Amino acid sequence: MALAEAGHQVWASARSNAKLETLAHQASATSGTIHPHACDVTSPESVLQCVKAMNQTWGGVDVVIPNAGIGYFNPLQEAQLDEWHSMIEVNIQGVLSTLHAALPSLLQNKGHVINIGSLAARHVYPNSGVYCATKHAVLALSESLRVEFREDLAVTTINPGSVNTPFIETTTNEELLTNYRPQFQAGMEAEYVAEAVLFAVESRGRGVVSEMTLRPDRR
Ligand SMILES: NC(=O)c1ccc[n+]([C@@H]2O[C@H](COP(=O)([O-])OP(=O)(O)OC[C@H]3O[C@@H](n4cnc5c(N)ncnc54)[C@H](OP(=O)(O)O)[C@@H]3O)[C@@H](O)[C@H]2O)c1
Repeated sequence: MALAEAGHQVWASARSNAKLETLAHQASATSGTIHPHACDVTSPESVLQCVKAMNQTWGGVDVVIPNAGIGYFNPLQEAQLDEWHSMIEVNIQGVLSTLHAALPSLLQNKGHVINIGSLAARHVYPNSGVYCATKHAVLALSESLRVEFREDLAVTTINPGSVNTPFIETTTNEELLTNYRPQFQAGMEAEYVAEAVLFAVESRGRGVVSEMTLRPDRR
């Protein structure tokens, strides 16, 4: 929404069409646009069709923000293999599918990739080892894009600490969910992260924000 309010044209994707339609409706009161397009990043075909539709509608893309990410918190000893695989599917493979589909247009337009990392991209915490591994991978991927496409692509990684979103609610370990929920509820507002993304987008021409770390206020 921050991008639409600043006048940008946003192609928004997630699995839930209803949530996207609500966003698009809210954006109609702004100077920008949000175009909703349902997509599941665990399906490379779904991602490819989404990017194709965007290219056909708008003729290309300037900025890609692969934001979809999930976290299941659990001690390694109690881990569910399907939860590990889901995090890898969304947080790594989803980012890869998105970049693979968007890179030709991004490179043509000397565009910008804004990956969403986490404090878990730089640190490893108990009960979230595989999530931390996926976010370390996102950061490594950002760096590889930065060094390989130095002339043709800007690359930013935003690393937030706790943000007050429903993110923690996917955790199936009831005890950890109860323990962690207050920390996320006391976290930063999503709008603060969105403003950081907007700052990175609008910095082009003056410099490139390679990495930005955001931590909640300690009140
Ligand atoms: N919340 C935090 O404390 C925090 C901290 C650091 C980093 N992050 C990172 O920030 C990003 C956003 O997380 P959030 O806090 O906004 O969590 P969230 O509220 O749970 O939102 C996750 C978003 O990803 C979408 N999504 C999930 N699976 C998807 C899939 N298979 N295909 C397409 N879209 C999918 C969801 O929409 P649908 O369900 O409709 O698909 C939703 O829009 C993630 O990468 C997360 O790792 C979060």
